[in-house]
Amino acid sequence: MSDERVSRRRALAVLGVGCAAASGAAAASLRVVVAPLEHGERGPRWIRVARLTDLPDGAPRRVSLVADERSGFVTRKAETLGQVYLQRKGATVTALSATCPHLGCTVEIAADGGQFFCPCHSSFFAFDGSIPPGKPNKARRGMDPLGVRVSPSGDVEVEFVRYQVGKATREAIG
Ligand code: FES
Repeated sequence: MSDERVSRRRALAVLGVGCAAASGAAAASLRVVVAPLEHGERGPRWIRVARLTDLPDGAPRRVSLVADERSGFVTRKAETLGQVYLQRKGATVTALSATCPHLGCTVEIAADGGQFFCPCHSSFFAFDGSIPPGKPNKARRGMDPLGVRVSPSGDVEVEFVRYQVGKATREAIG
């Protein structure tokens, strides 16, 4: 991977963590440390984020994606790579990236409790991640869904993917 691409990924990671830190007090978060991630590794990268029994049924819960991350000879311990909203319905869990697809701020739960809201440019999203008709929204696409799997023992894992912001289509960047 080129130095330019690594630097770009690092800058995006810092931006995401910064946005998350700025709004982190607004919602309870879970942190679960898991196996290291390595730049350039191929295939899905799954991060354990919660226990199924920790998740309320029907209400979105914001959790942090935390993992050790390797880059060259350096391993950064317990890096917060991003945040996601988990929504449980029975034994089924879905995940939406909390990174706003407009310009990358952290999406919050709106004051009315019935939808998502990005405070940076006042954009609303439905709980399924779509852009609700008739509501202000600057994004060119809905929130980004992420893969979820639940182990037989009840661990909830999310597939870690970053998508380019500001575009109408989803382009994975790491
Ligand atoms: S960054 Fe979310 S609306 Fe602009």
